[in-house]
Amino acid sequence: MASIRPASRWTLLLSLVVLISCIVVPGLTVKHENFKTCSQSGFCTRNRALADDASAKGASWTSPYEVDPTTVKFDNGQLVANLIKTTNNGEKVQLPVTVSFLDSGAARIVVNEERRLNGEIEIRHGSKANKKRYDETEKWVISGGLDVSKSAAINPETETGFTKVLYGPNHQFQAIIRHAPFEVEFQRDGQTHIQLNHQGLLNVEHWRPKAEEGTGEDEGTWWEESFGGNTDSKPRGPESVGLDITFPGYKHVFGIPEHADSLSLRETRGGEGNHNEPYRLYNADVFEYELDSPMTLYGSIPFMQAHRKNSSVGVFWLNAAETWVDIVKKSASSNPLSLSANSKINTQTHWFSESGQLDLFVFLGPTPQDLSKTYGQLTGFTQLPQHFAIAYHQCRWNYVTDEDVKDVDSKFDKYQIPYDTIWLDLEYTDDRKYFTWDPLTFPNPKGMQEKLDESERKLAVLIDPHIKNKDGFYVSEELRSKNLAVLDKDGDMYDGWCWPGSSNWVDCFNPAALPWWKSLHTYDRFQGSMHNLFLWNDMSEPSVFNGPETTMPKDNLHYGNWEHRDVHNINGLTLLHASYEALLERKKGEIRRPFILTRSYYAGAQRFAATWTGDNQATWEHLGISIPMVLTNGIAGYPFIGADVGGFFHNPDKELLSRWYQAGIWYPFFRAHAHIDTRRREPYLISEPHRTIIAQAIRLRYQLLPAWYTAFHESSKTGLPVVRPQYYAFPDDEQGFTIDDQLYLGDTGLLAKPVVTKDTFSTEIYLADDEKYYDYFDFTIYQGAGKRHTVPAPEDKVPLLARAGHIVPRRDRPRRSSALMRWDPYTLLITLNKNGEADGSLYFDDGETFDYEKGAYIHRRFQFRGGVLTSEDLGVKGPKTAEYLKTLADVTVERVIIVDPPKEWKNKKTVTVIEDGAKTGSTVALDYFEQQDGKADYAVVKKPNVGIGKSWRIEF
Ligand code: NOJ
Repeated sequence: MASIRPASRWTLLLSLVVLISCIVVPGLTVKHENFKTCSQSGFCTRNRALADDASAKGASWTSPYEVDPTTVKFDNGQLVANLIKTTNNGEKVQLPVTVSFLDSGAARIVVNEERRLNGEIEIRHGSKANKKRYDETEKWVISGGLDVSKSAAINPETETGFTKVLYGPNHQFQAIIRHAPFEVEFQRDGQTHIQLNHQGLLNVEHWRPKAEEGTGEDEGTWWEESFGGNTDSKPRGPESVGLDITFPGYKHVFGIPEHADSLSLRETRGGEGNHNEPYRLYNADVFEYELDSPMTLYGSIPFMQAHRKNSSVGVFWLNAAETWVDIVKKSASSNPLSLSANSKINTQTHWFSESGQLDLFVFLGPTPQDLSKTYGQLTGFTQLPQHFAIAYHQCRWNYVTDEDVKDVDSKFDKYQIPYDTIWLDLEYTDDRKYFTWDPLTFPNPKGMQEKLDESERKLAVLIDPHIKNKDGFYVSEELRSKNLAVLDKDGDMYDGWCWPGSSNWVDCFNPAALPWWKSLHTYDRFQGSMHNLFLWNDMSEPSVFNGPETTMPKDNLHYGNWEHRDVHNINGLTLLHASYEALLERKKGEIRRPFILTRSYYAGAQRFAATWTGDNQATWEHLGISIPMVLTNGIAGYPFIGADVGGFFHNPDKELLSRWYQAGIWYPFFRAHAHIDTRRREPYLISEPHRTIIAQAIRLRYQLLPAWYTAFHESSKTGLPVVRPQYYAFPDDEQGFTIDDQLYLGDTGLLAKPVVTKDTFSTEIYLADDEKYYDYFDFTIYQGAGKRHTVPAPEDKVPLLARAGHIVPRRDRPRRSSALMRWDPYTLLITLNKNGEADGSLYFDDGETFDYEKGAYIHRRFQFRGGVLTSEDLGVKGPKTAEYLKTLADVTVERVIIVDPPKEWKNKKTVTVIEDGAKTGSTVALDYFEQQDGKADYAVVKKPNVGIGKSWRIEF
C-alpha cells in the first residue's frame, strides 16, 4: 500500500473513515507509470533484443558460447568446464561452469564469470559495491538436497563434441552437453524434455570498462539508468544473465508466482489472449494491482513446471535479482496452422536476471508430485503451522483500541462464530514505532491478550522492517549505533519514507542483525507482548514510498557490500529468517512453532511463514483471481497462502462478502482483512441471512480442520500443495490442465468450486473420472467422466463434492476457537468407490510445540476393505509418543457415516467394533437412511467410541 497514507492518530482516522465511506469509490487501477515495462528496463530490453535478433536470423544465428573441451572434468557427480564466450570483437570471455547431478534426481548448472569472480574489475562512481557476481542466494534459499549423486557417470557412448552424463534413478536421466555451440539437453528414458540454449539466447553480460570512445556497441542501456526521477548509478555496468529453456512437446507451463493471472501461464510476446510483456519477478508494493497481468507483485518464486499427459518436468532459476520470463508456444511442426488442440507444442521460455551468477536446477519428474518433492527437498517443505494458524483470522486496518479488540472478541462469541486470531495493523503502535503500543489507545495490551487467551485465541501484530528514524526511540538508536541498517550508495545509512515518515531499514543480511532482532522480540523488551502474540511482517519487499518503483534504490548496499540489486527478491526472506528465530527465543525454555505472516517472499519462505496476495479489491474479479493465485503458489512449494477475504480496498456488498467467505474457507491461510477507509464488516455485523451464511461457511472450515491439518502435515513432508489444482489430481486428463477455478483439499477427495460471479445460483463442476461424486451436504450423486456437471449453488451453499473412495476426518461440534476443539470426538465421512473401498488418513498433534518431532502425534490410516473399516498406525514412535497418547485416551470417533452403502445393509442393524488387542468385539447400532431424487442412501454408526489414537476395526 503506497499512496494512501493516513495520519497517525486514530481519532482523525475515524472521521476520515466516516467521510470517505460516504463517497462512492470507482474501481481503481494500478499506476502503470510507477512500474517499469520491459522497454523501460535496460537489461530486459537487451535480452529481448537478443531474442528478436536470433529469431530474425533463424538458422543463421549461432550462440557465441562454447565449452572448451580440454577443460571438461567429471568427478564424483560433478562436471566442471570452462565456457568461452566470443565477443563481437573476438575477445574470449572465460565463464567457469559447474553441472552437479544430485541424489534427488535434480541437476544444477552454475555459470559464473572468471574476471568478476577474481575481482579483476573496476567499479565506477567510487562505489564500494562487491565486485563479484552475487553467489549467496543459495545460503538463504536452499535448505538441503544438494548431495551429489555418486552414481552419476559419463556415458561411455559419448560422441566427439559432446559430453553425456547418465544420472537419476537407474540412470533413467541423461544430460547431453554439446560443446559448440553450447547447448544442454535433458532426457528421461531417451526422450528430450528440457533444452537449454536451444534458441541460442544464453547471455552472460561480461564486465568491460566504460570506454570514453565507446565500444562500438549500443551502450544506451549499459550505464546509469533513470526511471521516474530516480537514477541508478549501476557502478558495475551491465551484468545480466539470460538463458532460453525449451520444453519440447509441452503446451502448458505453470508457476513462477506471484502474478494475478491464470494458473496455466500465457504467452508473453503478444497475440490474442496473450500478454505483451514478460512475467516479471521483482518484489514490489504494487498499489491497486491489475488482474490477468504479468506485472510483478509482492513475492517471487522462479520455479516453473511444464506439464503434459503422462509427464511433468520443471526448472528453478535461483537468482535474487530482478528477473523477467518470456513465454512463447510454437507448433513443433513447421506448419503454423497446426497449432490446434492436439498438435505437438513446444513451449519456449526465456529467463533473464539483472545480476548474479546463472544458477539453474532442472527436474525431470515424471509426475507433478515428484516435482513438488524434489523442489521441496532443496528449498524446504512448508513448516507445519501451529493449529490455530489454519483456522479463521479476523483482521482489519485497524482495531482501534484494546477495548475495541475485546469487544470484537465478545461479539464473535455472542453470535457463535468461531475465530482464532485477531490482528492489529500499524495503528496500535505509538507513532508508528514498532515494538511500542499507543499509550492512549492500547493502554493495557496484556489485559487484551489475557482476555483472548481465555478462549485460547491469539493476537497478531504488525512489525515492519522500516524503523522510524527518531532520536530517543530505542530501536532507532540501537539500529544506528550497531550499524545494522541498509546503506545508501555512498555508504551512509539509507533514509527513505514509509509509514513512520523518515525511516531506516534493518539489514537482515548482516549476521549481527539476527541477535539484535531476536532481542527486540523478547517479552522483556517488547513490553506488553505475551505468549499468544504472533507476527505480521508487512512491506518487506521492501516498500519505500519515495523509492524507485516504491522500493529501495538498486545501488543501496547491504552487508558484504552487495548491492540491493543483487539481493532484492530475497530481502523479505532474510527478515523472515530473523523473525522466525526471534519467535523461537522470546523466553528461555518456551519453544513453540513460530507463526508469521509475510507479504514479500521468495522460494524458501514456506519454511518460515504464511503469506497472502496483498492489497486486493472488493470486486468479483478479485475474488475470482484469488483461486488461481492460491493454486499457483501451492504448486510452487508455498501452499500457506490466502487472499484478503472481502477484498482489501472498498466495501463488498453482502452477496460478494458471503461468497468470499465461502471461497476463503478453501484458502490454506484464511483471513478477512480490510483497508482503513472501509466500513466495518466483521461477520456478526452483517444482516441476515448473510450473517448465518458466513457463519456456516466458517463453521465448515472448523468442521474440516482435521482434514486441513492432515493436508498441511502431508505438505510438510512431501511438498505437495494443500489445495491442489485439477492437473495435480488427474495429471493424465488433458481437459483438466487449464482448469483453475476448482480445487481439491489435500487427498481427501473433497472438490470445491467457489462461486465467484454475481447472481450465480448454480455452478459447473468438472469431473475427470468415472467415480461417483457426492454433494457434501445432501449426497446428491454426480457421475460422468470428462465433463462438467451442474451443481446448485444457492447463496447459502458452498459447492462441494466428495469423491467416492475417500475417508474424511472431521469434527462436528462447533466451538469458539480451534484450540477448544482439542479434545472433541471425530466423525469419519466415508464414500465407497466402485470396488466398495475407501482410504483416508488423519494427522494430529498438540498443534503448538515441536514435540511431534519426538513422536507426540497420531497419524492414522483409515481403510475400508471387504466390509471392514480399520484404523492403523502410520506413526513412528518416539520418546514422547506414549505420554501424548495418554492425553488422547478419551478422544474417540463418535460417528461413522457411510455414503452410498451396499443396499443389503438396509437389513443390517448392527456392526461389530473390535479394538486392537481385545478378544471380543462389541455390538453397535447401524442406522440406514434411504433417500430419493438422485441422492445417495447413507448409513450411520453412532458412538462406536473407538479411540482416535488406537488401532481398531469395525466389521459391517
Ligand atoms: C499494506 C498491507 O498490504 C495491508 O494489508 C496493510 O493493511 C497496510 N500495509 C497497512 O499496514
